[in-house]
Amino acid sequence: MAKKRGVYPVIQKALSLDDAVCNSSTNDSFEQVLACAQVGRRGFLKGSSFLAAASMLGMGMTLLTDAAKKDGGAAIASELGLSFQPVAKSIADTLTVPEGYTARVLLATGDPIKSGVTPYKNNGTDNDFEVRAGDHHDAMQYFGMNSAGTGWEPMGSDRALLCINHEVCEDLGFVHPNGPTEYGPESTAARPQLEVDKEVAAHGVTIVELTRQGSTYEINPDSRYNRRVTATTVFDIAGPARGSAMLATAFSPSGEQTRGTLNNCGHGYTPWGTYLSGEENWAGYFHRREADAVRTAKEVTAFSRYGISSETSGRYNWSRFGAADNTDLYSRWSVNKTAASAEEDFRNVANTFGWVVEIDPFNPNATPKKRTTMGRMAHEGCWAAKVTPGEPLVFYTGDDARNEYIYKFVSEARWNPKDATGGLAAGDKYLNAGTLYAARFNDDGTGEWLPLTLSNPAIANYAEYAFADEADVLINARLAADAAGATKMDRPEWGGVNPTNGEVYFTLTNNVSSSSGRGTQTPLDAANPRFYADTKGDKTSQGNVNGHIIRWRESGGNPAAATFNWDVYLFGAQADADTSVNLSGLSDENDFSSPDGLWFSEATPGLLWIQTDDGYYTDMSNCMMLAALPGAVGDGEAKMVTNKAVPLNGDSDQTVQTYAGKAVNPTELRRFLVGPRDCEITGITESPDGQAIFVNIQHPGENSGSATDPTQFTSHWPDGGNARPRSATVIITRNDGGKVAV
Ligand code: FEO
Ligand code: CA
Ligand code: CA
Repeated sequence: MAKKRGVYPVIQKALSLDDAVCNSSTNDSFEQVLACAQVGRRGFLKGSSFLAAASMLGMGMTLLTDAAKKDGGAAIASELGLSFQPVAKSIADTLTVPEGYTARVLLATGDPIKSGVTPYKNNGTDNDFEVRAGDHHDAMQYFGMNSAGTGWEPMGSDRALLCINHEVCEDLGFVHPNGPTEYGPESTAARPQLEVDKEVAAHGVTIVELTRQGSTYEINPDSRYNRRVTATTVFDIAGPARGSAMLATAFSPSGEQTRGTLNNCGHGYTPWGTYLSGEENWAGYFHRREADAVRTAKEVTAFSRYGISSETSGRYNWSRFGAADNTDLYSRWSVNKTAASAEEDFRNVANTFGWVVEIDPFNPNATPKKRTTMGRMAHEGCWAAKVTPGEPLVFYTGDDARNEYIYKFVSEARWNPKDATGGLAAGDKYLNAGTLYAARFNDDGTGEWLPLTLSNPAIANYAEYAFADEADVLINARLAADAAGATKMDRPEWGGVNPTNGEVYFTLTNNVSSSSGRGTQTPLDAANPRFYADTKGDKTSQGNVNGHIIRWRESGGNPAAATFNWDVYLFGAQADADTSVNLSGLSDENDFSSPDGLWFSEATPGLLWIQTDDGYYTDMSNCMMLAALPGAVGDGEAKMVTNKAVPLNGDSDQTVQTYAGKAVNPTELRRFLVGPRDCEITGITESPDGQAIFVNIQHPGENSGSATDPTQFTSHWPDGGNARPRSATVIITRNDGGKVAV
């Protein structure tokens, strides 16, 4: 997520809802009771039958190697080796990759995706983003294509489709000639329609066809698959909330459709070759300027829980471009009650955002779908567990805001490999019915999946919000998870499933805020055990500043299990931090802060990539990507963390027991890449042979002081000179043509 900057100070409150906190529930965070230190770990490594099932299939391109058939990732890690020299930390305005590697820009903001489109001038005068790459590249997925060019072939390497999320349109206004006009929630005047149209079109997803050239790829500008999905594209609403009165709008009075996808952040893909994209910080796009009294108490509770307050929402002002703003294209960005019924205005429109969306890259004519079974939240992405014929499908998703939750969805339908080419019809079969759960991380290293359904008495009898039906539970999944008693986490970002042992990893990027951060307002707990101070220049931040990566093993190795065992794989820290903070033993070759992207290679099972979106260690290094060879849950030990002067503990020290993975060294974690200045590294995918990886560089120069004065740009990447900075997808290959990283 793009961070805030000083140019538009008034809008900072609304800019990053991942920095907002809307969880005022009383759910405890398992504040530590020291007696818990006596509780032993239970059930670790009981999942040894996980890979015993001969019928176990990997997802898509996953190939299970002989080594991978051994239980436990530790075995895999020991058989793999990282073969590159670690890249040093850097604050230079350049993209650095290891010696012997080449990085090349494939597709940057505004680049044409079709033949005949003029090259991007990058001066704010190109207005046709419907045929150009969108802005703020985020997650992405490579889909191999069969040689006939008609459909998904996971191992297809000559032709492929690349789906890329575009999270935000750069709010500094590099896409406009002179920056944005009347921008920010404090503004009351009209915005130019041209600016609104351009920003709306720069959001969404890009799909382009790739053609292999040696060990790298080029875009085929003539492919019939090349297209954009934007914040105007029509989506079907699917699953239990489809047709709910809570989704009725003037655009779709029946509540069966909506227009647009927003803030597409993390991603995922299905066993039938469709793309999943998470709608993350959508709340800030909706304009609300009405008194709470005109809405029902339930509506006000829901608005508050999702961050659509009446003071700060609507940063883009897309609902107001001038006198003629009464068409659905524009009026839908206001949630104000303006007509006699919900079928005549857009009071409910925000309920049609915040979903995992499914797009079939191989069927440009298919209407994409919002899958309401996954719940409504600030979805980062959506990642499938390994699939087994005859078993339910399982997907993990995180809600990226401070003190929000981790979720999983278990399908009602059981997997039939014949559906592997089923497209969105397969999505209807598997993703429209099932159970959504939220995670509770117990302080003894166990965990539970709490069902979010009215059959859960805690939800049916919740005093804070009376759920009308199962659709209401999914539309207000945050409230349901509050009721169920889920554990507040330090901002869940990406998840991933280790193909060698089925263990699930999630980044918890950080939790810093004097008003709601870890240790300041939110109690420490075993799964979020750190409070500490970190200094950058003359600024000191307190809380969990550098983040951590949690992981778990589902009981019995069954992804659909109701319980799990967890530990913390890695704690972010600067290498010279106190040992009470640098709990994983990070060194100069691998220290990092604010893990965000996390992705397991499928070409090289056991290889994990970690990407950062950091603002706390950027005095020492721009954001980065690291390669890791993780072990397995339980490879470390119970650990007592001494947190100094914890505000919530009366400014006294507080000792918390957690479970830490084993300390790492540079042979199993090392820095692979450092990005240009003020960027975030997010999004990674690979060719089936692992010889090319695709990485997204998001918002270089985001702390620039001006959109038009090159002397105030903090980055000119990738074009150099005086150019405005742009987000971009890069391809990284080894000069000797070998597999990347190992
Ligand atoms: Fe869009 Fe949570 O990162
Ligand atoms: Ca520091
Ligand atoms: Ca992210």
